[in-house]
Amino acid sequence: MTPTQLADALHRQFEQTPYGQSPAELYDPIRYIMSLGGKRMRPLMTLMTASLFTDDWQKALKPAVAVEVFHNFTLLHDDIMDQAPLRRGQPTVHEKWNANIAILSGDVMLVKAYEQLLDVEPTYLRQVLTRFSQTAAEVCEGQQMDMNFESRETVAEAEYIDMIRLKTSVLLGFAMEVGGIVAGADANSTQHLYDAGVNIGIGFQLKDDLLDVYGDPAKFGKQVGGDIIANKKTFLLIEALERAEGQVRLDLLDWLSRSEFDKSEKVEAITAIYDQLGIRELTEARIADYFAKGFTNLEQITADPARKDVLLSFAHQLVERES
Ligand code: IPE
Ligand code: IPE
Ligand code: MG
Ligand code: MG
Ligand code: MG
Repeated sequence: MTPTQLADALHRQFEQTPYGQSPAELYDPIRYIMSLGGKRMRPLMTLMTASLFTDDWQKALKPAVAVEVFHNFTLLHDDIMDQAPLRRGQPTVHEKWNANIAILSGDVMLVKAYEQLLDVEPTYLRQVLTRFSQTAAEVCEGQQMDMNFESRETVAEAEYIDMIRLKTSVLLGFAMEVGGIVAGADANSTQHLYDAGVNIGIGFQLKDDLLDVYGDPAKFGKQVGGDIIANKKTFLLIEALERAEGQVRLDLLDWLSRSEFDKSEKVEAITAIYDQLGIRELTEARIADYFAKGFTNLEQITADPARKDVLLSFAHQLVERES
């Protein structure tokens, strides 16, 4: 299967997925956020990992939809928490409607994600639901850590990596693992898939942090500089706090301590400090490291090399992504 064929099948599956009708304020935002698409890389990875072990990868379509609906639910709530105005180049749900609507539509999306998993073969159902529940709770743990870190003065790199492992990577881990599970892969292989997803996911979130500063606003689809405005303890800020000395350090700390500021002035000033400290190159190197770990995990899996290549080259593209 080519990625395009898998993406087409996924697209048709999304078109057939009912979310609900009334009240419109509950269900319209779901159709809105889902229609904006995004990269849909998690469900594609689910289909690709399933196809490593079976020709009947269609079995993985509903689990793939579950993962994407869950991901979109987290985006609705994340955008409220991060006060983000833009998502996928369009107004966020809480901006277009309001925060209460984004909360409740998000809640029902979580329920819809579970519903999609109910058709998993009985042999795998309990395992899939258990792993999904664990993953969903971990995403919330990571999100709470992310919020806690905003008001902390310093965060150690290891704490940051643990936070992004939870808020972002475990879901990619689950997305890859569940494809293997429903395709009948052995426990060893599903563990390698999960580990690959976690490592690639860490690289993916590091890249997200990088794009938040250096992304092209026309391509990124989100507000560039949002993390700087919110004093997010991203990899870039943590490394800058580690490295900055003298006046640069004082300037950085001063920007972080201001409660009133011009947003674009702050974004420009902190970006200039990152430039001066070589933070971009440092982040790029770390992204490459985590992706490489993920690729090593994938190499451990015994499967058709051509099908593995499809997965590997798709994952490689995520290193260079611009949105
Ligand atoms: C955004 O995820 C949230 C993060 C975990 C960084 P994506 O970058 O996959 O967003 P979409 O789904 O493609 O819009
Ligand atoms: C998002 O992290 C993680 C989840 C959505 C759970 P970010 O807050 O960095 O994601 P974006 O940048 O808003 O997509
Ligand atoms: Mg966030
Ligand atoms: Mg966010
Ligand atoms: Mg981000």
